[in-house]
Amino acid sequence: MEDLREKYIAAIADAADESALEDLRVQALGKKGEISLQMRELGRMTPEERQVEGPRLNALKDEINSALGARRTALADAALDARLKDEWLDVTLPARDRRTGTIHPISQVWEEVTAIFADMGFAVAEGPQVEEDWYNFDALNIPAHHPARAEMDTFYMHRAEDENRPPHVLRTHTSPVQIRSMQAQGAPIRIIAPGRVYRSDYDQTHTPMFHQVEGLAIDRDLSMANLKWCLEEFFSAYFGTRVKTRFRASHFPFTEPSAEVDIQCSFEGGTVKVGEGDGWLEVLGSGMVHPKVLSAAGVDPAEWQGFAFGMGIDRIAMLKYGIPDLRAFFDSDLRWLRHYGFGALQVPTLRGGV
Ligand code: DAH
Repeated sequence: MEDLREKYIAAIADAADESALEDLRVQALGKKGEISLQMRELGRMTPEERQVEGPRLNALKDEINSALGARRTALADAALDARLKDEWLDVTLPARDRRTGTIHPISQVWEEVTAIFADMGFAVAEGPQVEEDWYNFDALNIPAHHPARAEMDTFYMHRAEDENRPPHVLRTHTSPVQIRSMQAQGAPIRIIAPGRVYRSDYDQTHTPMFHQVEGLAIDRDLSMANLKWCLEEFFSAYFGTRVKTRFRASHFPFTEPSAEVDIQCSFEGGTVKVGEGDGWLEVLGSGMVHPKVLSAAGVDPAEWQGFAFGMGIDRIAMLKYGIPDLRAFFDSDLRWLRHYGFGALQVPTLRGGV
């Protein structure tokens, strides 16, 4: 019995896992286990022998049972310890720094422009970037062979040999949205159309894609005076200070009369400051919408008239936020984007009281 005891106690202490323990239990205490067989032997003993051997066997059985239990608990504890060590997580550590993106200055200015004109009752209109040449040119009183077509460095879409639909272009300006908007909603109308435009031109101050915002207001009695008020209100709100404008006579096929508009600025110490000094900076083209343009868009020029303007978004973004190089806008340089970008909750500084 002492041999049995030593054998099982040692084996149980060495058992590596749950199933080894179970094997040992069956070997010792199962129906045909070594201890169970010994129990059966008791029947053949004399009552005196049985009185001694019976309790000893029972005690051994109990001892083995509790050794099994203890080992089982120890194995489970060790397994838990291993897991805790393995899966340990320090929830007190600060979260890893995660860079959030920034709003591109063009997007920011786009939003600012939209907010200011919205205050003046202008809705936002859109048109396609791949545009029919009729909308981009003809409807705007730029017929075929007009020099303005060549000046615009137009990108033409590729056409198959047998293609006889009218040619498509990448729109060279946002002005075609004037036509589409008037066709869709007639007059009176008051819209701005911010968007991407394309010209085959690349140097220090030109990129093949850039941004414009078109303005259009048509009613029964609008005049250049309304245009001038609108633009001065806009620039003052946008730059956060009273900004004077200067209208210079110019020519655009789609307006008559036409004016290029400069804003007041100073150029001291190599930096441009808008709204002060006696310098001028050209920022947009504008005028009274040409009767032919109204007609092309299905609006009767005998009844309706109004003004339009087109302004470079990139240009006014550079002016407001002191960005010296136009091309940097489109380089996707992360350091530049982090420096000039805006936080999502950064509210634009727009002068109130428009
Ligand atoms: N479309 C012109 C351009 O891209 C800008 C322009 C000038 C727009 C006069 C207008 C306007 O609406 O009236 O150069």
